[in-house]
Amino acid sequence: MPVPFLDLTRQYSQIRAEVEAAVAEVFTTQHFILGPQGKALEQEAAAYLGAGHAVGVASGTDAILLALRCLGLQPGEGVLTSAFTFFATAGAVHNAGGRPFFADIAPDTFNLSPAAVRAFLREECARTDGGLLRHKATGTLIRVLLPVHLYGLPAEMDALGALAKEYGLLLLEDACQSFGAAYRGKRAGVLGDAGTCSFFPTKNLGGAGDGGLVTTNRAEVADRLRRIRVHGSRERYYHDEIGYNSRLDELQAAVLRVKLRRLDGWNARRAAVAAAYNAALEGVGEVRTPRVPDGLTHIYHQYVIRAKERDALKAHLESRGIGCMIYYPVPLHRQNCFLHLGYREGDLPETERAAAEVLALPVMAELSDREVAEVSGAIRDFYTERPK
Ligand SMILES: Cc1ncc(COP(=O)(O)O)c(C=O)c1O
Repeated sequence: MPVPFLDLTRQYSQIRAEVEAAVAEVFTTQHFILGPQGKALEQEAAAYLGAGHAVGVASGTDAILLALRCLGLQPGEGVLTSAFTFFATAGAVHNAGGRPFFADIAPDTFNLSPAAVRAFLREECARTDGGLLRHKATGTLIRVLLPVHLYGLPAEMDALGALAKEYGLLLLEDACQSFGAAYRGKRAGVLGDAGTCSFFPTKNLGGAGDGGLVTTNRAEVADRLRRIRVHGSRERYYHDEIGYNSRLDELQAAVLRVKLRRLDGWNARRAAVAAAYNAALEGVGEVRTPRVPDGLTHIYHQYVIRAKERDALKAHLESRGIGCMIYYPVPLHRQNCFLHLGYREGDLPETERAAAEVLALPVMAELSDREVAEVSGAIRDFYTERPK
């Protein structure tokens, strides 16, 4: 039985009437940009996440870019992040005028390793006379720590937050894959100076096009975000700084408000699918299932296993019509556009190993138990059928 990796029509069929009514209302008002839907979504998202402020923007990529600028990143300054993430994390750093630096991940969570971050800050950087932190080899001032909550699992924020504090760094969370995930009772995205969300249609909270959000508890950062997303204007046609055209439009906000009301149910079903995979894959071949540290809630934007023979396993699943994906095959320090940063193969060994071993399985909330059993059974067959 074929199993699609993702089929958004299944979700849409449940909410079609509500979405169509919400969209029709926007058309009736003909208010498409910065209107009541966007304002209501910002309030509802802020309340859901426990954020002081939420500011809608045009995409998750823009959320990172605008947040970095509004936190005060200056051209040429450094941002320490993970190389095992979607390209936008570091692309946005570059486009905000910054220089990305990469630390390795922890192999069991795929998130930034606090030990690797500590080693970078302690061994590769030195304090300036003014108390700032300078990367010794490049002379770059390091200003921001940017952990990514990859696949929907929060990074080790206590340890990373303590390091940010000790070294005087701003803390920006890339929560673009983790809407609703929790870290010791608080939602991902509200644990640092600011957090960023993506509403790309395939996300666990996905719009009908691009969309994003920045969360922050710092009122002055929220105020600046509200200006910078409209070309830096506080009042129409009066510009205090040069900003962007980056708004979450009313149609997106209307659709997202419908979906936000159902999100907890969908996230719970994703977790149930993950638990079923974990049980079915226990002890199967060399497969390693995801580990969730105590006190953290994974929302399984992706359910990702590790397997040394990943490419053969992927081919086997695809031969049975089972969708599976590699997130991400080329770590950012090995991307052509970042080769000038000077990283070499072997510099981030856990990141590079993960890129060779990860495989994402179908985990949408609408997956049936039969489909989960089909995928697990196909993986079991792969290991029993293959020559020892
Ligand atoms: C980790 C991560 N960061 C940033 C982004 C960028 O979000 P968007 O596609 O909405 O620009 C994404 C999603 O695509 C992502 O997964």
